[in-house]
Amino acid sequence: MSDYVATRTFAELPLSEELRRAIAEKGYTAPTPVQAAVLEPILAGKDLIVRSKTGTGKTAAFGIPLIERIPVGTKHVAAVALCNTRELALQVAEELASLSKYKGLEVVTIYGGASAEEQMRALDRGAAIVVGTPGRVQDLFDRGRLKFDQVQTCVLDEADEMLGAGFFEDVTRILNSLPKSRQTLLFSATVPPDIEQLVQTYLKNPETILLSGDVFTVDHIDNVIIDVVDQYPKPRNLLYLLERENPDSAIIFCNTRTDTELIANVLNRHGLDAEMLNGDLAQKDRERVMGRIKKGELRFMVATDLAARGIDISDLTHVINYSLPEDPAVYLHRVGRTGRIGKKGTALSLVTGAEIMTLSTLQKKFGIKFRQMTLPSPEEAKSLWTDRAIKELRDAMSTGMAFEAYLPLAKDLAGKEERLSLLAYALKYFFTHHRMERAQMRSAGEEKLDAQADEKAAQEFHASHARKGGRGEKSERGPRGERGAREAGGSSGRREGAPAREKRPPREASAQSTASSSPANGDASAAPVDPNAPVQPAAPVDRVKLYVTAGAEQGWDNEKLATAISGLAGQPRDTVLAIDVKPRHAYVVVKPDAHAAYLAKNGATLGEAAVSIEVARPRRR
Ligand SMILES: Nc1ncnc2c1ncn2[C@@H]1O[C@H](COP(=O)(O)OP(=O)(O)OP(=O)(O)O)[C@@H](O)[C@H]1O
Ligand SMILES: [Mg+2]
Repeated sequence: MSDYVATRTFAELPLSEELRRAIAEKGYTAPTPVQAAVLEPILAGKDLIVRSKTGTGKTAAFGIPLIERIPVGTKHVAAVALCNTRELALQVAEELASLSKYKGLEVVTIYGGASAEEQMRALDRGAAIVVGTPGRVQDLFDRGRLKFDQVQTCVLDEADEMLGAGFFEDVTRILNSLPKSRQTLLFSATVPPDIEQLVQTYLKNPETILLSGDVFTVDHIDNVIIDVVDQYPKPRNLLYLLERENPDSAIIFCNTRTDTELIANVLNRHGLDAEMLNGDLAQKDRERVMGRIKKGELRFMVATDLAARGIDISDLTHVINYSLPEDPAVYLHRVGRTGRIGKKGTALSLVTGAEIMTLSTLQKKFGIKFRQMTLPSPEEAKSLWTDRAIKELRDAMSTGMAFEAYLPLAKDLAGKEERLSLLAYALKYFFTHHRMERAQMRSAGEEKLDAQADEKAAQEFHASHARKGGRGEKSERGPRGERGAREAGGSSGRREGAPAREKRPPREASAQSTASSSPANGDASAAPVDPNAPVQPAAPVDRVKLYVTAGAEQGWDNEKLATAISGLAGQPRDTVLAIDVKPRHAYVVVKPDAHAAYLAKNGATLGEAAVSIEVARPRRR
């Protein structure tokens, strides 16, 4: 038996047809050891304390038998699962909802920061399973809207945290309000012995099931420590580390909210895609950031321990500790966000002398074997950066866009005194433009594809006309926002160490890169600019056209949408210069200085739906 596959199969487990179907639909072909081990005791109504490593499927381990014990079509609350964060509650609820799909059971998530009214309505509709955070669960119970009298099972996910100092009062109040006859289940990757004593008060003859023995390490996770170099600031250490490791995706854990903000800003300023996640964010932003990292749309989530426990991101390749957590157990949870269900993962920790105690506890108590890595020198980091940047340029060049017409200009430019600034500006524009375009392509939804089909047809039509001798029109893509100007996390108005606003580019350079004449649009079919023609100074960019997935069918009209979207972006109403609401999308023309604030709200909730906000594709008419 490995940590991830049990010796028994699902076929050998006593499961109803409804559960078998739901499990198969989720793509689970074999139970994990914890799922096989706890099934019968839970079905028998026993109280349990269960320890199993991170990413071993504990949610379904309690979920499957919990659902199995509730009769088909039950319309009263029969099970309550408590979680330590709203994000985890949402995730657990999703898993339980998919597992209970064929049993006709409603699952409702009860958590702070979202409408209590809606949650109460869901309860009134006859929810059978409640997943929630303790504060709001208690609140709705106190208001008489959440009934506990028929609850037969209560789960504490992340049980050691739920019975720790932060939640103890709330959680024990709830436990005391539940029927005495209920079954109580405690699940976590870490269950310290003192908890086992404490729980004697709340559990009846509990059975303890320890799947992971005394060794906590997850074999698939490579634990690496990197000594912080004092010669330069710590954020720079992180940048060098990212240069060396070049992770596909990572959660970067910080010990404070201030650090998450600082680091997200530093990464953004260096052109890296990062957003912060901490308790200061509005709930809708927390959900947006979590949604982006789960969908693989966000490369770096810079988080506090809000994301340390339970959060399941299937393909996260790296966890990075900007600082080690004070509590060694938290280290196990943090690094367990990678290497899920037997996949490989890497945990990188920047370590200073002051953290030596934590390190030695991790080695001695949890048996973690660390591999040591050194940071690249500033020169090495620089050359790694240069090599990667050149590769990105070469890759982009190989897409077939004709650029040879610019060679004479490049030659002239090389002879100018300000050649470095001109080149730097062109590079800055390229990297910003290129990365935003790739991000947009990744996040483009089907609806957008539909809406753009006609534009594509129009583009092809015009491109073919251009090839036939017409003047090749260039993209009218708006100027790309200075990426650093985007607020990490969206809701916090304060930015630490923000760079000075970049100066308007020199005219010659902007002539090639502003709205009306960008050559960097990857459009191989566009006719090249006449190399001998004098370079036209660009018209100053005075507007940016945005494509927004909110339309008349969702009840928007021009005025309503202009007010709502400027409010969402935290911008004055007059930053919207023009607006055109179509049935299922809208074009919103905004002032250039404000457009980054609008783009930063891509994915946020507008009205009642998540909205996509992007720079509009050109219509070449
Ligand atoms: N039997 C199974 N076969 C394949 N995948 C599974 C199975 N059970 C669960 N999974 C998947 O494994 C991942 C981890 O599951 P889960 O989040 O429940 O782990 P966990 O043990 O609760 O971890 P943590 O300690 O971090 O909370 C999820 O993506 C889940 O969908
Ligand atoms: Mg879990």
